[in-house]
Amino acid sequence: MKRKRVGVLISGRGSNMAALMQAARDPHYPAEIVHVVSNRADAPGLATAAAAGLSTAVISHRDFASREAFDTALNDHLQQQALDLIACAGFMRIMTPALIRPWAGRMINIHPSLLPLYKGLHTHERALADGAKTHGCSVHLVSEELDGGPVIAQAAVPVKPGDTAETLAARVLVEEHKLYPVALALLATGAFRPPGKPS
Ligand code: GAR
Repeated sequence: MKRKRVGVLISGRGSNMAALMQAARDPHYPAEIVHVVSNRADAPGLATAAAAGLSTAVISHRDFASREAFDTALNDHLQQQALDLIACAGFMRIMTPALIRPWAGRMINIHPSLLPLYKGLHTHERALADGAKTHGCSVHLVSEELDGGPVIAQAAVPVKPGDTAETLAARVLVEEHKLYPVALALLATGAFRPPGKPS
């Protein structure tokens, strides 16, 4: 099977991007990471990607007057890269239909909670404040509802006595790095089919 060409969107550290890159070093992995775009020029993940020889681009949301204008430019750029799939990896932007619709069923995101719990920001703080016993991460298709698309895969971790948002985030992040390559492979091979898509 031909490997799927994947573009990764980041805003920061890029550790999930690095986990995908690591998985894709195996020639049998069903996807290859071919391009990385950040909306922030200072994202540390850009250097990680460049050091691995990947093509990178910065498209700053600050250069555009509206969310739609930024998303239109980003989509135009992504369309030029001959990509099959997009993986958002710590891409901290609320996306509009201008970006979401062209990639429907082909764009995924990793989110640090057991969706549908804790959509949005500060997930670890909110889980702790609720006294949650279990927390985790999810990979889902991006839909027009924020963090609301169909879930592809999830991983759970225990919340331990004395946890802070930082210790809990670190425990979840270990699982994110394992989960994201698995979920991307499920989509790339067709093992995961978006709901409503015939087999
Ligand atoms: C990850 O924990 C990811 O789940 C989260 O940001 C972090 C990015 O880390 N994403 C979101 O909160 C999306 N709303 P990374 O840049 O090291 O992959």
